[in-house]
Amino acid sequence: MRVDTTGKVSLDHIYTQPDPRAYFTTLRDLDYFIPELAKPHFSGLIAEYRTAREVPVPTVLDIGCSYGINAALLKYGVTMGDLYDRYGGHDAHRQTRGALLARDRELVRSGRSARRVRFLGLDASDDALAYALEAGFLDGAVHADLEDDDPDERQRAQLAATDLVISTGCLGYVTERTLARVVEAQGGARPWMAHFVLRMFPFDPIAEHLAAAGYRTVRRDGLFRQRRFATAQEQELVLDRLSEVGVDPTGLETRGWLYAQLYVSRPR
Ligand SMILES: C[S@@+](CC[C@H](N)C(=O)[O-])C[C@H]1O[C@@H](n2cnc3c(N)ncnc32)[C@H](O)[C@@H]1O
Repeated sequence: MRVDTTGKVSLDHIYTQPDPRAYFTTLRDLDYFIPELAKPHFSGLIAEYRTAREVPVPTVLDIGCSYGINAALLKYGVTMGDLYDRYGGHDAHRQTRGALLARDRELVRSGRSARRVRFLGLDASDDALAYALEAGFLDGAVHADLEDDDPDERQRAQLAATDLVISTGCLGYVTERTLARVVEAQGGARPWMAHFVLRMFPFDPIAEHLAAAGYRTVRRDGLFRQRRFATAQEQELVLDRLSEVGVDPTGLETRGWLYAQLYVSRPR
């Protein structure tokens, strides 16, 4: 398996398929469960925001939303296990994309807490966003790579309506450059943020940037298993990287799992 410049295996090919089958088939083998572990933290923060800001239906921007996974979990009550069965099981491989979408729209129609939150997804993958929109998991989508480019006028207007910004499995691919552009698009308002970030990616540069924009960042207690290493080579490279950034992997990454931490940033 190819590795990217950070030492992680490159999974780019599964992010850009017309439906989520390759994504869930590949990540099931790696026990990727971070959206499931993130779910209670995100839903707690959304509930807190609703009360504190008196916004009955907050808009959540999910950076690197892929096929609308956090939205499906938080709006429609499904689990990662459900999604692995839905898209990674034998049955899914006999279906067409249209049949998968029809089944997803059924789930969306029966949605439980769906009306209490809106989800806007930002991703560099047009295919993933198109699927998430057609399924109905997302209420809106921004197809952009804000690492390199400013949002255009329409994207800026979409981003401006954000109450909370969340991410799982995406920081590292995106940096303070993307977050700065998201904050700039708010025209002075400051959405709350919650990001699950691998320990190999120091959060300090992002926290410093957000501090300059008026945020205070707190790392929440706990370490969250993101997934297993794909290969021995990936583990070796990530262990090297952790030692470069001063993180002790003993008993954690040395045991075969990548670990994430949760950073919550709110206006001071
Ligand atoms: C590991 S997936 C995480 C997907 C989802 N959040 C989850 O946890 O299941 C990373 C996602 O980040 C997206 N991504 C990578 N680089 C990006 C960039 N520069 N801007 C926006 N999205 C990006 C990929 O297309 C992919 O959908």
